[in-house]
Amino acid sequence: MIRKLFRNAHIFTPTDLGAPPAGRSQGEVKHFRKGALYCRDGVIGAVGEESEILASLSPRDVDREVDCEGMCLIPGFVDAHTHMCFAGSREEEFLLRLEGAEYLDILRRGGGILSSVRAVRGISEEELYRTTRRRVLSALRLGTTTVEIKSGYGLDTESELKMLRVIDRIGRETPLDVVATFLGAHAVPEEYADSPEDYVKLLIDETIPAVRKQGIARYCDVFCEEAVFSVDQSRLILEAARSAGLGLKIHADEVHDLGGAGLAAELQSVSAEHLLAAGEANLEAMAKAGVVGVLLPGTAYCLRKAYAPARRMIELGVPVAVATDCNPGTCYTESMPFVFGLSVLNMNLTVFEALTATTLNAAYAIGMAGRTGSLDIGKSADFLLLDGDTPAILAYHAGVSPVALVVKQGEAVS
Ligand code: NIG
Ligand code: FE
Repeated sequence: MIRKLFRNAHIFTPTDLGAPPAGRSQGEVKHFRKGALYCRDGVIGAVGEESEILASLSPRDVDREVDCEGMCLIPGFVDAHTHMCFAGSREEEFLLRLEGAEYLDILRRGGGILSSVRAVRGISEEELYRTTRRRVLSALRLGTTTVEIKSGYGLDTESELKMLRVIDRIGRETPLDVVATFLGAHAVPEEYADSPEDYVKLLIDETIPAVRKQGIARYCDVFCEEAVFSVDQSRLILEAARSAGLGLKIHADEVHDLGGAGLAAELQSVSAEHLLAAGEANLEAMAKAGVVGVLLPGTAYCLRKAYAPARRMIELGVPVAVATDCNPGTCYTESMPFVFGLSVLNMNLTVFEALTATTLNAAYAIGMAGRTGSLDIGKSADFLLLDGDTPAILAYHAGVSPVALVVKQGEAVS
C-alpha cells in the first residue's frame, strides 16, 4: 500500500451529500487555509486543516510527503459533455460562420456534423484512436481527470460501434476515467435524408440493440433540434434506449426552444445539455425532476449566441454543471479552465458555483459522483494543484492554464 500526504495547500472542494448541490448549496464550498490531503492507494483517506490531519497520523502512516507550497488544490475537472472522438477539421466551416453562415444551415446543406461523419467513416479505427488520444491527453494536461465522450459521427451501426470501441480503449489506455455515450441520433445521415423516420426506426430496431450487446455505452443522447430530431422522435429513441438499460441525456434547446428541456424532465433523464434557448417553464420542470443542466458556455462563445440562463437556473434550483462540448463544429476546445472563466465572466456564476459545476455536479451528470468530483473520503484521489491562491485564478489568469499538477488516483499524471 502506498500512502501519500499532500500538505501546505489552500484546499477548496464541494461536499458530496448524496445529491447534486443546487440553489444556494451550489456555491457552498469547503476551504482549508493550510490544508492537507492524505491518500492510500489512490483513495482519499482524510482531508482537512494540516494541523488536524498531522495530529491524526503517525510518521509511520506516510510513505511520501508532498509540500504543495501554498498552491491551490481542487478536485480534478470532470468534463461531462464532449464529442472528442472525431477525425478531420472543420476550419473552413468556421470561416463560413465568421462570414455569417448559420450553423444549422451548414448542416442542412450536408456539411457540419455530416462532414465529420464522412471523416470518421473513412478513417481506420487505429487512426481514430490516435487522434482522439492526442486530444484527450491535452485535456488531461488542462486538468480533466474524468471525461464523457459521445459517439455520433458514425451514424450507421458499424461506425457507431467503432467509435464506442475507440472511446472504451481511451478509458483503458490513458489515465482518465471515461464514460461513453451513444449519440446515434446526432443527425440524420445523408443516405436517409429523404426518409428520416426510417433512420429513427433503424436506431430503435438495430443500432440500440447492437450498442446494448456491445456493452460499452452507459448513456444514450439525442440532438433534439429543429431540422434534426423532433421532441416526439427523441422520445421514441430515448424510450428504446431506456428499455435497453442505457441512462438518458438530451442535447436540448441549443438553438431553438423546441421543448427538449421539458422532455428531459418528463423522462427524468440524468441531464439536459446546452439549454441556450430553454424556456422558463421547462427549466422549472427540470428543477422539480432533479435533472442536471449541463451548460456549455464555450459553444455560446464560439457561435456568438446568448449564453444559457445560468443564474436563473440556480435561482430555480436546477443543479448546474459546466463542460467543454469539445467538438470540431460548434466549439473546438478541450480546456476546462477556459469554460470555467466563461462561466464566471459571461454567465455570472460565482467562482465557487463554477467550481461545483465543473467537478461535483459534472460527476453527477455522468453517474460518476460515487467515485470522483469532490475531495470526500473514499473517493478517488483525483485533484489539481493550481498556480494561485484560490480557484478564481482559473478565470482571473485568462487564456492560459494555471494547472501546475494533475493527480489521478494519487499519482501525478501531468
Ligand atoms: O453539442 N449540437 C450537436 N452537437 C454538437 C456539435 C457537433 C458538431 O457540430 O460536430 C454540439 O454543439
Ligand atoms: Fe454537444
